[in-house]
Amino acid sequence: MTFAEEIPSVRVRAPGKINVYLEVGALQDDGYHELATAFQAVSLYEDVVATMADTFSLTVTGADGVDLDGVPTDDRNLALKAALLLADATGYEGGVHLDIHKQVPVAGGMGGGSADAAAALLACDALWDTRLTHQELHRLAAQLGADVPFALKGGTAVGTGRGDVLNPALARGRFDWVLVTSEEGVSTPKVYGELDLHRERHKVDIGPVAQTPSVDVEVLHALRAGDADMLAASLRNDLQVATLRLRPDLAAVLELGEASGALAGIVSGSGPTLAFLCASPEHALELSTDLQRAGHASLHVHGPVPGARIVG
Ligand code: C5P
Repeated sequence: MTFAEEIPSVRVRAPGKINVYLEVGALQDDGYHELATAFQAVSLYEDVVATMADTFSLTVTGADGVDLDGVPTDDRNLALKAALLLADATGYEGGVHLDIHKQVPVAGGMGGGSADAAAALLACDALWDTRLTHQELHRLAAQLGADVPFALKGGTAVGTGRGDVLNPALARGRFDWVLVTSEEGVSTPKVYGELDLHRERHKVDIGPVAQTPSVDVEVLHALRAGDADMLAASLRNDLQVATLRLRPDLAAVLELGEASGALAGIVSGSGPTLAFLCASPEHALELSTDLQRAGHASLHVHGPVPGARIVG
């Protein structure tokens, strides 16, 4: 906690994520899909500064290239919802001002909004001295959204249920990724809806949807061995077909990345961010430069990195 101008504040940093494996099962009665995913937190961060205040308020800024259109600054914002939920759950009677600085693409399929919410929970817990346990914070995180618990936890993890039931996965070494971001985001519910439509239309082709999806053991082996080639061969994202139906232009970019030397390319989560796995940091730098020359906005990141943590 710092005491600049005598107003206490806490800064928390939380990472964006890539789903290196995402198997989507059937639509449940609650509107969510049963899924099995392997998450990897990557070195693209959201910073949230929580400052003591009487009411609840929010400001949002973005790094170069992060388009803030579509980020609500009222109580529809997930970080503000997180602060309100924590106050409600603990009986805290004051407020907070949240200052969010975004690096993760907005509506990009990398869990930026979820990272904001995880960071806000942790920051307010420290600022207000509400001292919730990890389990209590996890429970509130899961109420805010399916990806929020992972943003708290970070590293590498397997998610089941809605993606919010987490088990840590052993991971060694580092994986280098090149991300290609899009100017326009896509809506996650729309992508899931498109997948349902696609499955309805192509029932015969895809066969019955797995009732209980599970993460392929090859992915877990690859993560445990720190083996990028093995991981490249086992990447899977069931949402990709739906995202590409909504954004057909991305297919050519996926091909370009793979033709330019990526081990493999995949849509990140519900997209439209694309993630290309590379053999080394040098290789990733080269690929990123090539993609930029071809007119695409690209970033080099690595994973796994820790989850939300207090940095000042
Ligand atoms: O939990 P979150 O707010 O991130 O989810 C956004 C939307 O994505 C949900 O309302 C739902 O339409 C869809 N979703 C889903 N199944 C999941 C996770 C998300 O259908 N497991």
